[in-house]
Amino acid sequence: MHEQGDRGREDLGVTDMLYVSMIEQAKGILEEEPWYVSALSNLSSLIMAMLPDLNWAGFYLLRNGRLTVGPFQGKPACIHIDPGKGVCGTAVIRDETVVVPDVHQFPGHIACDGASESEIVIPIHADGQVAAVLDIDSPVKNRFSPEDREGLERLVGLIEEKVNWTE
Ligand code: SME
Repeated sequence: MHEQGDRGREDLGVTDMLYVSMIEQAKGILEEEPWYVSALSNLSSLIMAMLPDLNWAGFYLLRNGRLTVGPFQGKPACIHIDPGKGVCGTAVIRDETVVVPDVHQFPGHIACDGASESEIVIPIHADGQVAAVLDIDSPVKNRFSPEDREGLERLVGLIEEKVNWTE
């Protein structure tokens, strides 16, 4: 016997449930303080805390025409990435999510942490243009499934709707 509140969640898999919970918590974070420094800091921590098998999770912000590292969790990372370079710069130029099952097979991959084996990068828009990317690395090959992509794209949709990018 399910309570009323459980209806509609019965068909969700474990990964989907993880993202339902993550997005609920992300809403709380963004509602309390939408300023991008606070919001993206806590969101990178939320991703790292909730998703298994990650070694880096964070944001690069487009600033003066190039990606510049923003709030993140993980080892110190490359500070600047030009559009078109690496997985992050490729996601900016294509303006679409890039999923890399094996970073060693991606031409031009920028290795910030030698432990990374797979990666997902999702563009984030402000005023209709790419303003940042969400970048997540895993030490496990093929870590990011279609369910992960869908859940993370929903998280990015929430960021696009709620984050205040002004100083
Ligand atoms: N691997 C990325 C660089 C950023 S680090 O993963 C944090 C890339 O190729 O763009």
